Amino acid sequence: MRILFVCLGNICRSPTAEGVLRHKLAAAGLGQRVQVASAGTGDWHVGKAPDARTQAAALARGYDLSAQRAQQASAADFDAYDLILAMDHANLAQLERLRPAHNQTPLALFLPHTGQPLEDVPDPYYGGEDGFEQVLSLIEAGCDVLVSRIGGSR
Ligand code: 4NP
Repeated sequence: MRILFVCLGNICRSPTAEGVLRHKLAAAGLGQRVQVASAGTGDWHVGKAPDARTQAAALARGYDLSAQRAQQASAADFDAYDLILAMDHANLAQLERLRPAHNQTPLALFLPHTGQPLEDVPDPYYGGEDGFEQVLSLIEAGCDVLVSRIGGSR
């Protein structure tokens, strides 16, 4: 199974989701079953490592995001992945515009897909440190649900 997380810049939210899910899958012994990646709808940060604040917050909770590099989401992703999860409504709308005609790949908002009460993972880019902690907590909760579902479908 291949899962793609998508946000706007691919330097804060979706790289966090990629790193957290990969870490949790490995811890659950499910690392071989799922390939995880992330992308941004925008192209400003392509080739760059995740934002320094994102990396610092993630590392403090045990997730090393340093090897990740930003890439832009494309129409080809709808064939390359089995599930595409958007961080917020704007990302979702942009992905719906990218989706090739007749493509049926499951595409959803990450938090509602994982049963969380909030719909959007708030964009932390222009905010303070608290935003990065909130992003991590939301993403950890959602990834716990994904891992338990994947483990349950073994
Ligand atoms: P992300 O955060 O979508 O979570 O990676 C952002 C990163 C960069 C920008 C916006 C959001 N930006 O405008 O450059």
